[in-house]
Amino acid sequence: MRALTFSEYGSANVLEVTDVPEPHAGPGRIRVAVRASGLTPADCHLRSGRFRDLAPLRLPHTLGMDAAGVVDEVGAEVTGVRPGDEVFGIVDVAELGGANAEFAVLAVWAPKPDALSWEQAGGAAGNVETATRALDRLKVGTGTTLLIEGAAGGVGTVAVQLAAARGATVIGTAGAHNHAFVAGLGAAPTTYGPGLAERVTALAPDGVDAVLDCAGSGSLPDLVDLAGSPDRVVTIADMNAAKHGVHRTRSAGPGADPQAVEGLAVAADLARQGRFTVPVAAAFTIENAAAAHRLSETGHAKGKIVLTI
Ligand SMILES: NC(=O)c1ccc[n+]([C@@H]2O[C@H](COP(=O)([O-])OP(=O)(O)OC[C@H]3O[C@@H](n4cnc5c(N)ncnc54)[C@H](OP(=O)(O)O)[C@@H]3O)[C@@H](O)[C@H]2O)c1
Repeated sequence: MRALTFSEYGSANVLEVTDVPEPHAGPGRIRVAVRASGLTPADCHLRSGRFRDLAPLRLPHTLGMDAAGVVDEVGAEVTGVRPGDEVFGIVDVAELGGANAEFAVLAVWAPKPDALSWEQAGGAAGNVETATRALDRLKVGTGTTLLIEGAAGGVGTVAVQLAAARGATVIGTAGAHNHAFVAGLGAAPTTYGPGLAERVTALAPDGVDAVLDCAGSGSLPDLVDLAGSPDRVVTIADMNAAKHGVHRTRSAGPGADPQAVEGLAVAADLARQGRFTVPVAAAFTIENAAAAHRLSETGHAKGKIVLTI
């Protein structure tokens, strides 16, 4: 099958579409014929070698953590899903890839709602799981005032909507050109960077109850001040979190939190009700994946970058 791979670490130029053996669904897994899959910044870090000590890979490596497609193999012990069903889901996170390909084996999944296109569903699962895990950790619910740092990106756009659907009041930081976009997702927008505390206090005079950092831009000291305590802050992206007493949530590796798999069905239900969508920044074929990686590496994609087969 065709797959997006790399056989040496390096720039986006090392990416190549190659012919690799098809994977098959073992116990507890399903295989899908992929219609679209996601590109996350971690894929770029795996490819560049930035994660080579943290997460050594056997090269060549097939990229991609999540996908949507049509089920064509159902492993032993799997119930509730049949060949032909349309689903979206996440590969086994320990394998660190495999979704940017013609066929992918999923470890967690939910039925794809008609309200999400293939591209939207293909880029949904990883970010939905991540946002749900972080919002659960922060106990975000009705009445919570939540600040999301980096609200216009892949995870941020999803987190804003899921938090608003829980009944939270959401403030989201983004570049000024993305403020209308963030407001449309359900957050009061403001700009990140110097003066953040004053701007947030103007929007939330009684203060914020919780902060989700989706940017990892080094603002944790300010975010902790705003929340009043490091345990009211969760980051998905700041590798220096521990220095500030802040929890960095991740779903793989040492110190991982359990995956919030139920989030996929919750997001699918919200999509059916017209209360959740996946803003797609851009879609590229896997043959054009180098351009997709370069866009991700700008750090300013507006929503999710998706790859089609
Ligand atoms: N721990 C986990 O489980 C997990 C899971 C998924 C992702 N991640 C990590 O989380 C991070 C975000 O992922 P993503 O997919 O959402 O990335 P993304 O789609 O590239 O989004 C990045 C967003 O960050 C915003 N941004 C850039 N500079 C900023 C700054 N100084 N302050 C605040 N926001 C800023 C940008 O908004 P503007 O364009 O408006 O500037 C952009 O929309 C990445 O580091 C990724 O590796 C972690």
